[in-house]
Amino acid sequence: MRIIFATGNAGKMREIRDILADVDAEVFSLKDMGLRSEADETGETFAENALIKIREIYDILQPAGNMKDTVIMADDSGLCIDALDGAPGVHSARYMGHDTDYKIKNQAILDLMKDVPVEKRGAGFVCHISAIDEKGRVYDAEGEMRGRIAYESRGKEGFGYDPIFYLPEMGRTSGELSEEEKNRISHRGKVLRMMKAILKDEGLLRERVH
Ligand code: IMP
Repeated sequence: MRIIFATGNAGKMREIRDILADVDAEVFSLKDMGLRSEADETGETFAENALIKIREIYDILQPAGNMKDTVIMADDSGLCIDALDGAPGVHSARYMGHDTDYKIKNQAILDLMKDVPVEKRGAGFVCHISAIDEKGRVYDAEGEMRGRIAYESRGKEGFGYDPIFYLPEMGRTSGELSEEEKNRISHRGKVLRMMKAILKDEGLLRERVH
């Protein structure tokens, strides 16, 4: 079995390889395959965007007869803030401009949230993973990591909105967690484990036998 994960993000690929290490499949990135995603993420939900990403690659590999024993997966994720009606949500990467520094984006969110009391600062990192098999069947899983918006930015680990995402049970922002700590509790990790279970149930994946 071959799993192609449609992302160009090296950090995501490390996490994905780690979580899929116990299944009997070889894991490839787009780069490994000599492919690049050019799809516009125009969906209005995480599910629609994940589907756009897997379809783009399926439509290249399937007509060329290159889908044998292959599953293509992709994720779409973002920060959903309760007090902002779920914003920035699916627009997380594009919020205030794709190339705007996260120091600026994070400060803007802290400013917007400055008068919001602690009990209304709830937020979630949401992740949706879609997968497509050689017959064109699509599988979906979605989940989130709950936390709240901090009062100040803290931590240099992680990326994006991590420094303003406070995890009360850890007493730290996700920007203060090591990669290993974050992978254990992250939205992406949680949903990838769900997807692994779905594909095992479908008979598409097996445990690796050592
Ligand atoms: P994607 O790569 O299209 O899924 O975009 C996700 C965007 O959501 C990223 O560019 C970040 O802004 C934000 N995001 C998603 N997951 C995380 C996370 O674990 N930490 C910080 N920001 C995240």
